[in-house]
Amino acid sequence: MNRETMLKWAQRTKEKLEKKMLFAARQAECVPFIPYSTENGKWKEIEIDWWTNGFWGATMWQMQQMTGNPAFREAAVRGEEMMDDALKNFETLHHDVGFMWLIQSGVRYALEKNEDSRKRTLLCANLLAGRFNPNGFIRAWNGDAIGWAIIDCMMNLPLLYWASRETGDPRYRLIAMRHADTTIKHFVRPDGSCNHIVMFDPETGEFIHNPGGQGYESGSSWTRGQAWALYGFALSYRMTGKKEYLDTAVKVADYFIASSQNNWLTPCDFRAPAEPVILDNAAGAIAACGLMEIADHLGAARQQPYFDAACNLLQAMDEHCADWTENTPAILQKCTVAYHDQPGIHISMIYADYFFIEAVNRLLGSKMLFWGPDLAQ
Ligand code: GLY
Repeated sequence: MNRETMLKWAQRTKEKLEKKMLFAARQAECVPFIPYSTENGKWKEIEIDWWTNGFWGATMWQMQQMTGNPAFREAAVRGEEMMDDALKNFETLHHDVGFMWLIQSGVRYALEKNEDSRKRTLLCANLLAGRFNPNGFIRAWNGDAIGWAIIDCMMNLPLLYWASRETGDPRYRLIAMRHADTTIKHFVRPDGSCNHIVMFDPETGEFIHNPGGQGYESGSSWTRGQAWALYGFALSYRMTGKKEYLDTAVKVADYFIASSQNNWLTPCDFRAPAEPVILDNAAGAIAACGLMEIADHLGAARQQPYFDAACNLLQAMDEHCADWTENTPAILQKCTVAYHDQPGIHISMIYADYFFIEAVNRLLGSKMLFWGPDLAQ
């Protein structure tokens, strides 16, 4: 795909985004919670410790970077401060503190040197490091899931890389790399597809089982997990320079691209039955960002198919699944929480819109990497 053509698409999309997201921010001012999804065209909330809550602030910071409009900064700060209730009740937090704080508090600290934002981000890095099992994996969830790790965690590792750079202490990075190495061994299959969940014996680290998780079944290919893997490994490569991480990102990306050739609308699971058609545009948007990250690390001779695939995903979503009206504050429709979760099928989700906007900002040439905000140029 021609980069000039995509730049023009991104510029047109930027104009639509500014209008739509100002509407979304005004709608958020009217509610005492952080936007998660929508119902009847209005924002809908979810509990304060839910893993998606950082994406509202991060979306607002992406828009602030794209447009310079201070209204977006105000909305971001309001969301960040609301989330202090989740930090106070830290025992209910889980491995997704990277999603929740790096891309909003870490970004604000990078942009404004706000000390409270730095402390929030560093505290979360310590919470995440505290979940490390010395057998080589980061525990995902609480309760009985003591030996459970999930593919999504690849996107929480940037918080640990950030913390090592911020403090000069290599322990955070070493934990992240141990987890990434375990993920290569036990999650990524030879064809580039991935397990969502792996249960380990928490005492010995022995592999026990890979349950089905949010995809169709055990052994299938939940697309959001594929997207977390391809973007997460690309970021681990950026932060460490370890070539195996880039090779893994490329392997997962090749599988994703080969499975998407039909119409570039991402199903919830690449290995689900053909009917019913259950899409997950969150997976498509995450993958688009990850594919652009991969393209950035490959030389000119290899990068084009990854850039093209990202553009195909974005344009298919824009054409078939984007709502640019002011009937709802959400853009991407037809996102899916999990294959077997009926109320969560074909809804809007704040993180789908976040990644769509991040992708547009990438095309516009933004150098602000939200997953490594201290690396901003
Ligand atoms: N990280 C949780 C999910 O992707 O649903």
